[in-house]
Amino acid sequence: MTTRHLLADDDLSAAEQREVLDRALALKAAPFSDRCLEGPRTVSILFDKPTLRTQVSFVGAVTALGGYPMVVDGRLAGVGARESVADVARILGPQSAAVVWRTFEQAKLEEMARYAGVPVVNALTDEYHPCQILADLLTVREALGDTAGRTIAYVGDGANNMAHSYLLGCALAGMHVRVGTPRSHLPDAGVVARAETIAAAQGGSVLVTDDPVSAVHGADVVATDTWVSMGQEGEADERKGAGGPFERFRVDDTLMGHAAAGAVFLHCLPAYRGHEVEASVIDGPRSLVWQEAENRLHAQKALLSWLVEQSTGPATDPEEQR
Ligand code: NVA
Repeated sequence: MTTRHLLADDDLSAAEQREVLDRALALKAAPFSDRCLEGPRTVSILFDKPTLRTQVSFVGAVTALGGYPMVVDGRLAGVGARESVADVARILGPQSAAVVWRTFEQAKLEEMARYAGVPVVNALTDEYHPCQILADLLTVREALGDTAGRTIAYVGDGANNMAHSYLLGCALAGMHVRVGTPRSHLPDAGVVARAETIAAAQGGSVLVTDDPVSAVHGADVVATDTWVSMGQEGEADERKGAGGPFERFRVDDTLMGHAAAGAVFLHCLPAYRGHEVEASVIDGPRSLVWQEAENRLHAQKALLSWLVEQSTGPATDPEEQR
């Protein structure tokens, strides 16, 4: 049996993403109806970067599934520094039903997945944040009924993890995905190409533009993210100072005015009011950010349950297979 992971949004097929979201809606309605981690089985949850929502929602999700959430401080563990990623994977895997990791390089997460022998979940890397997108899609389904055929406009830093995950995850959900970002911060070309292929198959489309108004025009969902991602603190002044690259991409009432009537606003948080979004938008009637934050719990619960169900079988070490 293959071990399934969520390292990037497109590790799930469109049908599988829908299955996970359906399960999330069911678990939201009946929070303790799935006890797949009863034992309790341990889920190892590692953080190499700051966290609030991700820690709370994964701990809550594992506990509600009957498991034990073992939170590991990456600074103590030193994964990839004090000992190799492969060695850590071979320690955690046999003791865990799944490994959840927030780190910097995607390549390290991929190495963890090669050696752990259990599902590995991306809890944010520099490249992707797929758990957030599942929560966002759940929120869109709740607000607008379905995702297929809807238009989402992500405005801001087009080169960050959220931009990449919106492109892939929302294309999988059959959406028209637009990214409004300056030419200096375009999404990775390979990710755009993958999103275009997915969109063509799912009836959606992809548009990357440096015009925020074209991006938002008629959109059903408008989303943004911080202009300074974790790990970029040294660039904070040039990224968010006056005259910085993203000034034209701030989500304010004027920009929201170009979206569809009834459009909703999303933000993965933490938010910096007065920078990427005005308070009148994030604290206004179109904002669904608190529902979106709560949906991290339901989406991740469903994801863990689905991954563990798909992957139960003997653990295999890639080096033993050689
Ligand atoms: N792009 C942001 C997302 C935070 C949830 C970051 O990586 O810091």
